[in-house]
Amino acid sequence: MNKVDWTLINFPLSLAPMVGLSHIVLREIIQSYMPADALTIWPSEMLNSRRVPGENLATTPETLKLANETYYVPQILGNEEKPIQETIKKLQQWGAHGIDINMGCPVQKALKHNYGVALMGDIEYAAGVVRMAAESSVLPVSVKLRAIESQQSDVDLIRFVGRLIEAGAGWICLHPRVPSQQRRGVADWEQIKLLKQAVNVPIIGNGDIQTAADVWRMKNQTGCDLVMAGRALAARPWMAAQIADDMGFNVGFVPRTKQEEGHEYGLCLLKFIQLSRKYFGESLALRKINFYLRMTTPWLEFGHSLIGLGHKAKSTQELEMNVIDFFKYNHQMSERTELRL
Ligand SMILES: Cc1cc2nc3c(=O)[nH]c(=O)nc-3n(C[C@H](O)[C@H](O)[C@H](O)COP(=O)(O)O)c2cc1C
Repeated sequence: MNKVDWTLINFPLSLAPMVGLSHIVLREIIQSYMPADALTIWPSEMLNSRRVPGENLATTPETLKLANETYYVPQILGNEEKPIQETIKKLQQWGAHGIDINMGCPVQKALKHNYGVALMGDIEYAAGVVRMAAESSVLPVSVKLRAIESQQSDVDLIRFVGRLIEAGAGWICLHPRVPSQQRRGVADWEQIKLLKQAVNVPIIGNGDIQTAADVWRMKNQTGCDLVMAGRALAARPWMAAQIADDMGFNVGFVPRTKQEEGHEYGLCLLKFIQLSRKYFGESLALRKINFYLRMTTPWLEFGHSLIGLGHKAKSTQELEMNVIDFFKYNHQMSERTELRL
């Protein structure tokens, strides 16, 4: 079986797990911009370990995957032994190369059920969840977590992560915003650097990446092993081509200017609509496209008009026509937004 081997990872950028966004369609589009032999980590949308055991992974939209996605590391949410064991076993058979545990989800439901970021409130409990996952898996287990909200946040973070590693975590992804920040405000990259210096497992840095230049800046500033981008990589999937181009790969035309990026957004959106129809069917496709528009148009000039077109469309076909018309005019894309969503 093919497990994540960090010595083979040769691409510095990965996609963040995002509910409603990190599905097969977005992953296929990003992968279309990468050299064929580029190797990184691919997430799934977050999967609830209470549901996965009863699902058909080949038809469930959240677990659809491409034939050769390497490395595929789906993310699970949970805290109970039996569902976690069954979920991992099923994902293993489905072709996962690793399993990621969510310790960053701050929504109320996760707090109520004591999973997601709630796990970070109790170090032994969190370590217990990692141990049970690692013991029931032949695949490596990783943890994605947030910064700790405390007076001694650095010390606490390193102690917390140390226990997770003892319990079997093979690598750690840090999104250094505290839970009360949700996804706004500045991500404290210093914490990624501290963690990288303090532990000897691979560290993935996440938060505030909006451009290819940010990817290199985070890598240089923190020394992290891999950079993970969420919202901006969804909005500009060709960031993968910009990175490949920076590395000297020949990936054909690479959009760089505001105008080129605006044009490319239109091409990506059409691809997104067509692939959503193919994989999800008409009604789910429309919902997913509308969510994609809401999350990614803040970078696009007149993006709010596109959101309006999405809401009005009765079918993906109608939306496709309207998107073609919309992009007959040039639209610029800005480098940065305030990352409010
Ligand atoms: C719509 C949306 C859904 C998200 N869902 C998850 C999730 O299921 N699991 C998780 O670990 N993080 C989730 N996140 C957080 C992202 O993985 C990431 O940590 C965060 O967006 C910061 O990265 P960015 O600034 O590059 O977007 C979500 C983010 C967004 C925008």
